[in-house]
Amino acid sequence: MNKKITAAITAVGGFVPEDKLTNFDLEKMVDTTDEWIRTRTGVVERRILKGEGKATSDMIVPAVKELCEKRGIDPMEIDCMIVGTVTPDMVFPATANIACDKLGAKNAFGFDVSAACSGFLYTLTLGATMIESGRYKKVVVCGADKMSAIVDYTDRTTCIIFGDGAGAVLLEPNEEGYGILDSILKSDGSGGHYLHMKAGGSLRPASIETVTNKQHVVYQEGQPVFKFAVKGMADVSAELLEKNHLTGDDIAWLVPHQANLRIIDATANRMGLPKEKVMININKYGNTTAATIPLCLWDWEKRLKKGDNLVFAAFGGGFTWGATLVKWAYNG
Ligand SMILES: CC(C)(COP(=O)(O)OP(=O)(O)OC[C@H]1O[C@@H](n2cnc3c(N)ncnc32)[C@H](O)[C@@H]1OP(=O)(O)O)[C@@H](O)C(=O)NCCC(=O)NCCS
Repeated sequence: MNKKITAAITAVGGFVPEDKLTNFDLEKMVDTTDEWIRTRTGVVERRILKGEGKATSDMIVPAVKELCEKRGIDPMEIDCMIVGTVTPDMVFPATANIACDKLGAKNAFGFDVSAACSGFLYTLTLGATMIESGRYKKVVVCGADKMSAIVDYTDRTTCIIFGDGAGAVLLEPNEEGYGILDSILKSDGSGGHYLHMKAGGSLRPASIETVTNKQHVVYQEGQPVFKFAVKGMADVSAELLEKNHLTGDDIAWLVPHQANLRIIDATANRMGLPKEKVMININKYGNTTAATIPLCLWDWEKRLKKGDNLVFAAFGGGFTWGATLVKWAYNG
């Protein structure tokens, strides 16, 4: 009898730009303080991609190169690349196509997924399903966002949160039960008006008016988003554990989307997990939207052990949210 194929994560790559934007820098730009930002969000500094002609694909390329080097594969071996992003290089073509071209991944087809901060979980689940089908052997899943391109640096309620970065994982078939074991994904479009970009789509194409009215930047009503995020991320993570007959004791690491330290704490508490089991790098990078979860894996890779149970959890614009259970496939 054929063994069940699961999609194992077999390598991780990441990239953050060199330039830092600290809370003290922001104190000079808007009416805020380092103390307010630290206590309300947990962010201390974030990375900003600077330079003419630099876009989201320019962060994906080094992340995927690193992953290929670690696994000892050539980009030509990649079958498919999926990119979760809300800051594509252009509306079209897909950033995945642009990145594949820059990488020389000539045998890969690629496409983008728009699911905001849940972008990595959505793409990971899609990629895993492709591997499980038996038709694809090497799928690269990326979460990447250049949030500085769509943040209004005169709006103190949003500019303090976001940063730029990219993370990527390689998915390959596994027959020993390692990899993506389960995933619960949700969305509710009725929450869209709390967190969105007003113009630049077919509803309100770019015009002098949309630019003058600053409608090409993140619009967020922080408090309702915060409330939905706390409940959404904690509920879905608890649901995932229950569905798989697991408790917090069975989980080695929670890998949460890095939106706000208080949202992360609420999710960990609900799962019965101590702080030591929670990956947190929001202090260094801020909220990099689709990149937060793979950047955590990138930072923690050396500490991960084969057989560790990991729960990835996210919440974001859409609303979109979800949680994924992963059995880690290699010693870091
Ligand atoms: C944005 C967020 C950090 C704001 O924190 P908050 O505790 O909800 O703060 P509030 O919006 O209630 O604002 C409290 C006060 O601080 C002020 N404030 C807002 N931003 C500030 C800043 N950067 N510095 C100083 N004061 C600030 C507000 O104007 C308000 O003042 P007021 O009481 O005089 O009206 C928080 O709502 C949040 O994290 N929301 C979810 C974000 C998120 O997850 N987004 C992405 C989805 S993935």
